Amino acid sequence: MGILFDEEKKIFKLDTEHTTYMAGLSDEGYVGHVYYGKRLKNIGGKYLLRMEETPFTPLVNKREKNSFLDCFPMEYPTGGIGDYRESCLNVRNSRGSMGCELLYEDHEIRKGKPALPGLPASFGGEDEVQTLKIICADGILGLTVTLFYSVFEKEDVITRSVSVENNGTESLSLEKVYSACLDMDNQEFEMLTLCGSWARERHIQRNKVHAGRQLVSSVKGESSHQEHPFMALVTPGTTQEAGEVYGMHFVYSGNFIAQTEVTQFDRVRMVLGIHQEDFCWRLAPGESFQAPEAVMIYSDCGLGKMSRSLHDFYREHLIRSPYKYKKRPVLINNWEATYFEFDTEKLLAIAGEARKNGIEMLVMDDGWFGKRNWDDSSLGDWTVNEEKLKGGLPNLVHKVRELGMEFGIWFEPEMISARSELYREHPDWAIQIEGREPGQSRAQYVLDLSRKEVRDYAYECVAGILRSAPISYVKWDMNRQLCDMGSACLPPEAQGELFHRYVLGLYEMQERLVTEFPEVLLENCSGGGARFDPGMLYYSPQIWCSDDTDAIERLRIQEGTELIYPLSAMGAHVSDCPNHIVGRTTPFETRGNIALSGTFGYELDITRIAEEDRKQIPGQIALYHKFSGLIQAGDYYRISSWTDQKPLDCWEVAAKDGSHALLTCVNVLGRPNVRSIIIKVKGLKPDSYYRLEGTEEIYTGEELMSCGFMVRDLNEDFKSRLYHFVCEENA
Ligand code: GLA
Repeated sequence: MGILFDEEKKIFKLDTEHTTYMAGLSDEGYVGHVYYGKRLKNIGGKYLLRMEETPFTPLVNKREKNSFLDCFPMEYPTGGIGDYRESCLNVRNSRGSMGCELLYEDHEIRKGKPALPGLPASFGGEDEVQTLKIICADGILGLTVTLFYSVFEKEDVITRSVSVENNGTESLSLEKVYSACLDMDNQEFEMLTLCGSWARERHIQRNKVHAGRQLVSSVKGESSHQEHPFMALVTPGTTQEAGEVYGMHFVYSGNFIAQTEVTQFDRVRMVLGIHQEDFCWRLAPGESFQAPEAVMIYSDCGLGKMSRSLHDFYREHLIRSPYKYKKRPVLINNWEATYFEFDTEKLLAIAGEARKNGIEMLVMDDGWFGKRNWDDSSLGDWTVNEEKLKGGLPNLVHKVRELGMEFGIWFEPEMISARSELYREHPDWAIQIEGREPGQSRAQYVLDLSRKEVRDYAYECVAGILRSAPISYVKWDMNRQLCDMGSACLPPEAQGELFHRYVLGLYEMQERLVTEFPEVLLENCSGGGARFDPGMLYYSPQIWCSDDTDAIERLRIQEGTELIYPLSAMGAHVSDCPNHIVGRTTPFETRGNIALSGTFGYELDITRIAEEDRKQIPGQIALYHKFSGLIQAGDYYRISSWTDQKPLDCWEVAAKDGSHALLTCVNVLGRPNVRSIIIKVKGLKPDSYYRLEGTEEIYTGEELMSCGFMVRDLNEDFKSRLYHFVCEENA
């Protein structure tokens, strides 16, 4: 049983296979945090609520209620009543005052997990997940707040979310509704986050926490290139294999905040939720608000264990697509090959050559509609440009399919170009503040997805094209951030809902798409990887990782991404050199080896690349066919990360049954006098024999894992190699 309640001690105990989470009730009914960490056999530790610390007991001494509230480890802190740490819920009443105090009312423990209305969320069968609902209330406001905890035993994950219901008689304003809070003692924590920029997304950043608040956030309307809705606190010296890790990850694609605060008592409060900037939700009597889901994970075996648990969790309980474990077609995308300059003939030339080399799908990127010959027009006018595509789209799709290939297409449905028919007809469909000229970015505005007629139009444009021809894949792009937040349809008091309503509108559109076209492979994208988040993963099994396709830049981008996402989710392509973003030239083989760890495809003009590169494509595709199952479902191990001093980047994917493992080594820069490097292989069966494929070398699993494997002759700049160890019993 994953969830227990001890009536006498008033403690909830939530167990996964290796972890325990405990929350308890104070005598007054405050819901406090007791413990999160290694799995415990028994319920205990209520003293961690520190109720005995005089004079902080409000029942005994009301005079000290404030001191109590500013120190009690709250499960879901509220603002305005004397807890001066970051609150999770701020409610303003109809007379304009902000204050809310939540006390326990009831609870419910059930099998399974309810869906979250309108939001992406993890799921699982009755034998896979259990849910605890702690129902709290503020009697003065007439507010009921339900804290949801779902326990995924096998994956060591606990998800949290919150629903807020107005059962009173007056209208309330929710000025902040976060999704999760974790109050703990500070263990000299370091904070690990993923940060970057366009073409440099999700680099791992780690700093010591210090007194005060440290945070990552987005107020751009999407999860963003710059910061990521994930935070982990790790004990000092945490490595891949040792150390404690407390992670929180947000199943949401809009504004967020993930914050750690070190308090005056050297305790930490970690919170995660929708950013409160420009957020204000009206809650009329009888209405409720659902906060998105937070995924919580604890590992006492370092970062590697966290990664593998999250990978399993997202594969099993968040990604819904039928492509989850299915081999994805090897695609060629024409973006870096042609940009906007293409026509049917050019695309068919690429497709013809691609097919000869074993590529299975042609994806037509931006530029096929309206008058879109550059990025300055036509978003919103989703009619095929027949000057470019003579004979229309069905003709092109038909010819591509005749070659024996599938066809995929690019859209940016959330946008409207300033130069478009749509904008001329419906200027008010663009998000803007009345009386103020909205700012353009890439010459475009953002459609107001809070409006049903706008969503319906945009959806029908996409669906109409998909209905017109047999299209197997959609790349759904989003190439600017939101600002000038104003909707022509929302009343003044609801304008603060627009950011969140936009995200809900996006989710509704993608839900319609995956429902009407379940067999279409959907890849989300946002100027590269600005909306690579668990929210989008619920709709698309893969997300374009970054516009930076340079093999070496990809090492850090993919390492940060793999830290929390399954490899099967990472859109990764081989592109041409010199690389279009950094101008670097790397061996074609290395570009292939690095893309192999993601969804794998090509993004180049195959009719124009060097012959010696083209000749390698069939071999690379054969590797993809051979290893895609392993990469999709195996256990990921990060072995080394390149630095100036140690330029070897290395990772491994091992089959869960230990039957084989693929090691990828990339030497970023050559160093003189390096003869060999020892790599300790992971995830093998110690007593079994493994052959290094393609050689006569045989090792025991124990040898490879403890003595290590000796990598030789890998000392040139950007050189890489794959090593496949196959258990002899499976050979
Ligand atoms: C974004 C995407 C690219 C490409 C362009 C097209 O930048 O990330 O892959 O589709 O848009 O405009």
